[in-house]
Amino acid sequence: FAAKSLAGKKLLITAGPTFEAIDPVRGITNLSSGKMGFAIARAAQAAGAQVTLVAGPVHVPTPRGVRRIDVQSAQNMLDAVLSNVESADIFVATAAVADWRPAQAADQKIKKDGSGQVPQMAFVENPDILATVAQLPRAQSGQLYCVGFAAESENLLANAEAKRRRKQIPLLVGNIGPATFGKDDNALLLVDAHGHQELPRASKAVLGEQLVAEIARRLAQ
Ligand code: C5P
Repeated sequence: FAAKSLAGKKLLITAGPTFEAIDPVRGITNLSSGKMGFAIARAAQAAGAQVTLVAGPVHVPTPRGVRRIDVQSAQNMLDAVLSNVESADIFVATAAVADWRPAQAADQKIKKDGSGQVPQMAFVENPDILATVAQLPRAQSGQLYCVGFAAESENLLANAEAKRRRKQIPLLVGNIGPATFGKDDNALLLVDAHGHQELPRASKAVLGEQLVAEIARRLAQ
């Protein structure tokens, strides 16, 4: 793909799941592997970008030359993103952020008391990291180019178009089913203001390069 198409650009990306604590030894997470986000980070670095990768708990090696910040919860991820977004030109949200977290994490391990009673848990909604970033003045003015992802089980195109408008971002990338979590390949549907296009099934490494090329092309326009 076009060599050094992102030279001089700073790209900030989230990847992986988040982990929302229930108590010191338990929590809620999801099956995101982080592979797609790490592949995009690697491709962006290879394309000349200065890349900061904010990663939830994953088991994927850090791409060479990429600055990685490890986080656990959605709130941690938001804080890391907001501390690093100021100078970014591109923000890519691939993380599968938990929608809810336990309202209160217990200080001590919750014990089974033998009575057969189960804990009742209340949840609160997590911040939407992508929507928060997309509202920043630099994003609204087009200086910060925001890319979101969508994993939908049905009506991908309609849902992706709606999500792009709702989050007020220029580019939304849909994972074309079946569920991609943990897999080494994927297929992507790119939705922007001009329409949609498909990146056919390929390895996440190849798709990362193709997506970076598509982002670079849109930035250059
Ligand atoms: O609304 P939904 O979770 O389907 O949107 C997915 C997109 O929004 C992804 O790009 C994901 O990384 C981002 N997102 C986020 N913070 C959340 C929820 C989703 O950044 N709390």
